[in-house]
Amino acid sequence: CGIVGYIGSNEKKSILLSGLKELEYRGYDSAGISVLKEGELSVFKAVGKLSHLENKCKDFESCGFGVAIGHTRWATHGKPTEINAHPHMAEFSNVVHNGIIENYQELKKELGERGCRFVSQTDTEVIVHLFEECLKELFDPFEAFKATLKRLKGAYAILLITKKSPDRIYYAKNGSPLIIGKGSDGVYFASSDAPLIGYAHSVCYLQDGDLGYMDEKSFDQLPLIRPLSVNKLYAQKEGYRYFMEKEIYEQHKVLVETMMGRVGGAEVHFEEIEAGFLEGIEEITICACGTSYHAGLAGSYLLERHAKLKTNVAIASEFRYKEPIMRPSELFVVISQSGETADTLEALKQAKRAGLKTLAICNMDNSSIVREAHCSILTRAGIEKGVASTKAFATQVMVLWMLSLHIAKIRHTLLKEEIEGQIHSMVESAKLTRVDERLHERLKKLSKRYLHGHGFFFIGRDIFYPLALEGALKLKEISYLHAEGYPSGEMKHGPIALADSELFTVALMPKNLLYDKIKSNVEELAARDATICAITPEPFEGADDLVFTAARESYMEEFFEMMVVLQILALEISVRLGNDVDMPRNLAKSVTVE
Ligand code: G6P
Repeated sequence: CGIVGYIGSNEKKSILLSGLKELEYRGYDSAGISVLKEGELSVFKAVGKLSHLENKCKDFESCGFGVAIGHTRWATHGKPTEINAHPHMAEFSNVVHNGIIENYQELKKELGERGCRFVSQTDTEVIVHLFEECLKELFDPFEAFKATLKRLKGAYAILLITKKSPDRIYYAKNGSPLIIGKGSDGVYFASSDAPLIGYAHSVCYLQDGDLGYMDEKSFDQLPLIRPLSVNKLYAQKEGYRYFMEKEIYEQHKVLVETMMGRVGGAEVHFEEIEAGFLEGIEEITICACGTSYHAGLAGSYLLERHAKLKTNVAIASEFRYKEPIMRPSELFVVISQSGETADTLEALKQAKRAGLKTLAICNMDNSSIVREAHCSILTRAGIEKGVASTKAFATQVMVLWMLSLHIAKIRHTLLKEEIEGQIHSMVESAKLTRVDERLHERLKKLSKRYLHGHGFFFIGRDIFYPLALEGALKLKEISYLHAEGYPSGEMKHGPIALADSELFTVALMPKNLLYDKIKSNVEELAARDATICAITPEPFEGADDLVFTAARESYMEEFFEMMVVLQILALEISVRLGNDVDMPRNLAKSVTVE
């Protein structure tokens, strides 16, 4: 979810809507705004994308001094209906919230017994009722707000407005991000800095535990105020049908960007990593979610192979509660496109508390994860709009590859010539991600065969296994078809039972890595009538469809080339099914709840 707020005299509706537009990547199940002006609260809510809300309040005018809050939702508790959309209301106050109130059921029961009437199924609604109940006893809104927060368990960023003090916005942050900005004509709130650009000249990144209220004057009392750049970076489709398509097509450029200044001649060097930072490191743990987790898994093969460092990879939501053993000699690496994923951020904090050195690989400068980690490497993929991550994944793998060579040099685990060879292959890999129009056409045609059936397996070995996982995730995310990524050698231990002509198998068959082994695995499936789409530079009789890649010198070149094939295949299947490629149902680009 994303939240915004504004205190000032300008047109509040348009400020909120433009802020929410910037936050739509955090959820687009429903959206709402609430404006408090001249003692009147006006609330508008709509299900679905922001354009629906824009339509709903098109005749509403909101100039003149007042306070306003807005929200774009990714449903956690309660279906994505209008009633469940934020802001939530009690008698004279409104609230927006990002996070999860874990003890809401207990509070709801208690408040219900006191006569509060709940209309939504959300956890958020308890906040505003609790606030009004506390106010009955404490009379002062700020005291009531503080008393409310004391009762809440869980993660939150909250903005609350009330007719009882109509020139203030009450705020609190615990776990979920919240930023306050000041501009020449008011005070602004937002979940990330993007909505503030162009409005605020300085910002304050709130810390967990921060709470208070703002009116037009109180901004200057905030600690740690930083200037905010005034240039907004806009992403346009530039003639492509979808952002995802554009992002696939620009991978060859952003990969070069990612290498720029870091790769040269016979070595890889990260200025971001201070001398001595990696000293004493004997092991690496990578922690991430979703696509970033797949990049981490791919990176683990490279780190072990090149830097000879034991590398563990963990899904952040699993890592947190397994009581992980963390040793001071471990480097803790988190990977995140957005830098805001709650699970990853919390795992990072946990590792820091345990005394580990932490490194973030992230696409968003200034994000919560970048601010939290000891050291960060930015992936330089540029703004990624498509919910299904493509270019961010490519740059994450590239950074991990570079990191493996950076460490290999320090630890003397590769010869100079070997590092040179890797760098040559890196440069080639970037070039190979340039999309060949004929390949795209071929995949467009081929996608017709793969629209129905009872499921997909994407299979590969070694580093092509995480790529298979990522191929399956791409397809799931935007086509809503069931797909699984599997190590090809493992198919015979169970999944092969599913094989028949309605089982689609996308086989990654690189020439430079275990070709004969994977070929045997694919033949086992072909013998059982599975429909096989083989991605390979070699002719292969067992396949129903062949997508030829050019024979390359190294398996990493093949990795990047095949990555593009999988992305375009998912894209074209989704297009044929008539889905919303850039904003697939039920997902959010950045998930800031646990
Ligand atoms: C969400 C997105 C995924 C993404 C994951 C991790 O679930 O829908 O595409 O891979 O979060 O995001 P991050 O920003 O941490 O890489």
